[in-house]
Amino acid sequence: MEQLVQQIEAYKQEIAAFEAATPVAVEEFRIKYLGTKGLVKTVMGEMKNVPNDRKKEFGQVLNEFKLFAENKYETLQNSHQSPAASQEQIDWSLPGDPVAVGTRHPLSIVRNQIVSIFRRLGFAVAEGPEIEDDWHNFGAMNLPEDHPARDMQDTFYISQNPAWLLRTHTSSVQARVMETEKPPIRVICPGRVYRNETISARAHCFFHQVEGLYIDDNVSFADLKQTLYFFVQEMFGKEVKVRFRPSYFPFTEPSAEMDISCLICGGNGCNICKHTGWVEILGSGMVHPKVLENFDIDPNKYTGFAFGMGVERITQLKFQVNDLRLYSQNDVRFLKQFTGVI
Ligand code: PHE
Repeated sequence: MEQLVQQIEAYKQEIAAFEAATPVAVEEFRIKYLGTKGLVKTVMGEMKNVPNDRKKEFGQVLNEFKLFAENKYETLQNSHQSPAASQEQIDWSLPGDPVAVGTRHPLSIVRNQIVSIFRRLGFAVAEGPEIEDDWHNFGAMNLPEDHPARDMQDTFYISQNPAWLLRTHTSSVQARVMETEKPPIRVICPGRVYRNETISARAHCFFHQVEGLYIDDNVSFADLKQTLYFFVQEMFGKEVKVRFRPSYFPFTEPSAEMDISCLICGGNGCNICKHTGWVEILGSGMVHPKVLENFDIDPNKYTGFAFGMGVERITQLKFQVNDLRLYSQNDVRFLKQFTGVI
C-alpha cells in the first residue's frame, strides 16, 4: 500500500504541474484524470487490494486525491472558455435581435410638459398621498361637513375607516404644503385623483390633475391671469385665445373658469366644443381667506391664487383623444401612436 500512496503523491505533483494552453488540453486533463477510465477511477479500484484494517486510512488518501484533481480541473476550466464556445463562429456584423421599446404614456408626456412650463415660472413640484383624510381634502379647503359643494365631488370613502378617502383633487397636497411651509409658496401638485363616476367616454372614476398655488405679498388676480395665459400659449401656441368666466369654488374667492378657443375647429364650432368655439380647461381663483387662516397665514398680509386642471382634458385637446377610457386600457395600438413624442 505504501507504494500506492507514493504513486498517488507522484500523480498529485503531475496534476499540480499540469498546464493547459487550450480548451482542448483542459478536456484532455479531464479524460486523463477524471474520465470513466481516468487515473482517479483506476487508483480507486485499488481499494479492494488494501487490507481491511487500512481501508479507512486509504479511503481518506483517495478522497483527497479525487478532490485535488477536481479542484485543478475547475481552475483550468475557469481559465478557458468551454471548447464548444471557442469553436462557435460569431459573426459580429449580423444585426442584433430587436428589443421591444415601450413608449411614454400620453398622460405622462402632457403632465411633464405642464410641469416644465410651470417650473420655468419658478413653481416647485409637490406630491402627497392618494389616500387622504377629510381635513386635507375638504375641511381645510373650506368645505365643512355639511357643505353642499361636497356633492360636486362624489367621494370614495375607505370602508374599513370612513375617516379616510381617496383624494378628489390635489388641493389636498396644497393643504399639506401650507401646513409645513410659510409664504412665499409657489408649487404645482400633479397627481391622480378619484371620483365616484360611472365610467364612460367622458367620465372616469380616476383621472389626473395638476393644481397650482402661489402665495406671497401682493399676489393679484392679474398675476393669476397672466400666469395661466402664459401657460396656455406655451402649451398650445400663440394663436390660442383665452377667456375667463366667473365661477364658484369654496376655496377661492373670486373664482373663475378658464376656456381656450377650440383647437379642433379653430373656434368655428364642432362636437368637442359643443359648437361654442370654446373649451373649458381649468378652474382657478384667489385663495379664500378662510383657507389661509386654516394654516395660520395672515390674509391681511398675504394673498394668493390657485388653479387646477385635468391632464386628460389637456391631452385630449393636444392629441385629439376623444374617449377617456383609452387612457387606462393600455391597448398597445393606442400607446404606440405616441412613439417618439416626449
Ligand atoms: N380643486 C378644483 C377641482 O378639483 C380645481 C381648482 C383648484 C379650482 C384651485 C380652483 C382653484 O375641481
